[in-house]
Amino acid sequence: ETVEWDPEQAGKGQFEHFMLKEIYEQPTALTQALEGRVDPENGRIALEDLELGTFNDIDNVQLIACGTSYHAALYGSLTLNQAGIKSTALLANEYSVASPPIDDNTLVIAVTQSGETADTLNALRQANEAGANTLTVTNVVGSTAAREADDALFIRAGPEIGVAATKTFSSQAVMLSLLVQRITEDIHGTPAATEIESYLSELAEMPDQIEELLERSDAEALASRYEQSQSYFFIGRGLGFPVALEGALKFKEITYEHAEGFASGELKHGPLALVTPDTPVFAVFTGEEDEKTLKNAEEAQTRGAPVVAVCPEGHRAVDVADAHLEIPDTDADLAGLLANVQLQLVSYYAADLLERPIDKPRNLAKSVTVE
Ligand code: G6P
Repeated sequence: ETVEWDPEQAGKGQFEHFMLKEIYEQPTALTQALEGRVDPENGRIALEDLELGTFNDIDNVQLIACGTSYHAALYGSLTLNQAGIKSTALLANEYSVASPPIDDNTLVIAVTQSGETADTLNALRQANEAGANTLTVTNVVGSTAAREADDALFIRAGPEIGVAATKTFSSQAVMLSLLVQRITEDIHGTPAATEIESYLSELAEMPDQIEELLERSDAEALASRYEQSQSYFFIGRGLGFPVALEGALKFKEITYEHAEGFASGELKHGPLALVTPDTPVFAVFTGEEDEKTLKNAEEAQTRGAPVVAVCPEGHRAVDVADAHLEIPDTDADLAGLLANVQLQLVSYYAADLLERPIDKPRNLAKSVTVE
């Protein structure tokens, strides 16, 4: 008697899909990303070759990326802005047309899981030619981006098989938040976080917090509750905004249902026209002007939309919302990354109910090597 050996099947272990496996791998991925790089007790960050002083002459930072990596880039750019550093995140496929000014003091960071996305490589080459200092944040050692950028920082997330990026988003965001601390320290003399020791210990706790979140998540029940809906909206403010965009992208990629992400405050400037009792609104609370976001969510609720708050236990939004997904308490800069994990689970379970081919959605490729 012979037993059929399917290596793909075996690779998934106890999980039905690679996507779910990779969602559950996030604690390990983040531990690997932080390994040897953070020392919370002394408030120190070590980024291999990027020693203290590397960014002394930088005065503006452009982040370029596509898809999910763009959302991580936006998160990084907003964090730099909050620290008082000039920065923009640009879609790599818009870079050649946008042609933002570059000089010797510009740092261009290409954020790319694969290191092979044609749009991102083109933008990186343009930046290199224009004389920018370039750096890539990538998962793949030896990738084209790693070879062509002046420097490379590896996220060490391990292979990601599911087309929809999950663990690599979290790892990119964490890597970028370390980089932001270092860039700010070089430019301003002090890191971005006012209390760097406590910030780094919150970061070091993230793997355990995600573990806890995964154990307790109500995302599966929630996905079945809204199965009949027509359209799904995701809103967030500040660092919650890129998370809302990523929540919607994940949802549309694998469920094939219509989903959109908005800045909370933009809902009233148009999208509200689409809101009905058939359009659940997922609201991400990160501790940044949460009262305003809650008001925006209530405006949707008044039009009959069910509101799902993604927030810490005991948050005021829990009483207002129709349902909630809980995230562990953490620094406001990191809360969105925990909220994102809840949204990954919602998308996964919604797609599973619809029996979609979760790991290989139609028309999409893991790495797009054409323009
Ligand atoms: C493709 C994938 C996305 C990914 C994007 C950027 O479109 O389907 O999941 O976010 O490429 O890929 P990169 O490897 O550059 O991060």
